[in-house]
Amino acid sequence: MAYKTLITVFLISAVPLAILLALEIKSPSNATSYPYQSQGWFRECSKWDDHDRRFIVSFMEGGIGQISVPKNEESRSPFLKEDLLVKDADLGGNGTLGLRIDRPRNRLVVAVADVWGNRFGAVASYDLSTWRRLFLTVLAGPEDGESLADDVAVDEEGNAYVTDAKGNRIWKVGPKGELLSTIMSKAFSERKEWYYNLVGLNGIAYHPNGYLLVLHTSSGALFKVDIATEEVTKVVLVRGSLITGDGIELLSPTKLAVAGAVPSCRVVTSSDDWVTAAVVERYMGPMHRFASSVTVKDGKVYVNHLFGLGLWQRKHLITEAVFSPL
Ligand SMILES: *[C@@H]1O[C@H](CO)[C@@H](O)[C@H](O)[C@H]1NC(C)=O
Ligand SMILES: *[C@@H]1O[C@H](CO)[C@@H](O)[C@H](O)[C@H]1NC(C)=O
Repeated sequence: MAYKTLITVFLISAVPLAILLALEIKSPSNATSYPYQSQGWFRECSKWDDHDRRFIVSFMEGGIGQISVPKNEESRSPFLKEDLLVKDADLGGNGTLGLRIDRPRNRLVVAVADVWGNRFGAVASYDLSTWRRLFLTVLAGPEDGESLADDVAVDEEGNAYVTDAKGNRIWKVGPKGELLSTIMSKAFSERKEWYYNLVGLNGIAYHPNGYLLVLHTSSGALFKVDIATEEVTKVVLVRGSLITGDGIELLSPTKLAVAGAVPSCRVVTSSDDWVTAAVVERYMGPMHRFASSVTVKDGKVYVNHLFGLGLWQRKHLITEAVFSPL
């Protein structure tokens, strides 16, 4: 129901066109943005690939694409083009959601889910040069209850960790795609109210000290999951809130960027190895477009927006996050 709810709310909320237009025109000051033309309405995740100067983008209708950025950025056209890289016939109408570049292994790891029916979840990996599929591991089928394989992190050994935003679990898959374990914890769903559970475990990042940071969207809880013991602890947020947070990216061992609905992006810092943390900065982007993931390009933070706008061609947006202190 996660995305269904979200998108239905978006479509029927009858946001007056004038407001939408005003939000669109509101200039993003002198920050850099990468608008691009696309065939699809929803783009859940994009990550910058500095080797090949492109954003790799996941298609919610299924598939993976790229937005190439010319070396001489001044000369780029106002709208970049989205090229299709992968569309697997055997995945039918399943969507591609979170993705990670696993640089040491020259591959991409993506979460695949039945976005509308919540009856299928998988993780797939592709060679970044040939786009050959290296593995496809089914994580959940109709018999496993509702699932939404949403986002993915990769550790130094090449293990992938996929969050289930419906079932509040984390699947661990080895470097060759073998399912190793399913991490579950009461802590993941300690808030029972429905509005704290519309979208569960979502953004996930690997921390070099041997744990994962995982965000629960509807409750705003941030968890630390020890990779060796699979022990789950809740990070104590001493300042600010992370409700509506979506994709996350570690900027440094002590600094995490969190994309989300409102605001579009937040910076969270921790000085005690993520026992406690504080929201210290925020970026108010084009909120009607719904920021859903975050990436780093040339030392700057960029935010991917879920919704495309436009009649004939969808216009999508990746914007630089210009933070202001809280
Ligand atoms: C825009 O440029 C000015 C002057 O260089 C700088 O002070 C300001 O921080 C910039 N604003 C943004 C949003 O990057
Ligand atoms: C998702 O993929 C699985 C495996 O190929 C397939 O059985 C299922 O029908 C697909 N779901 C959708 C919504 O296309």
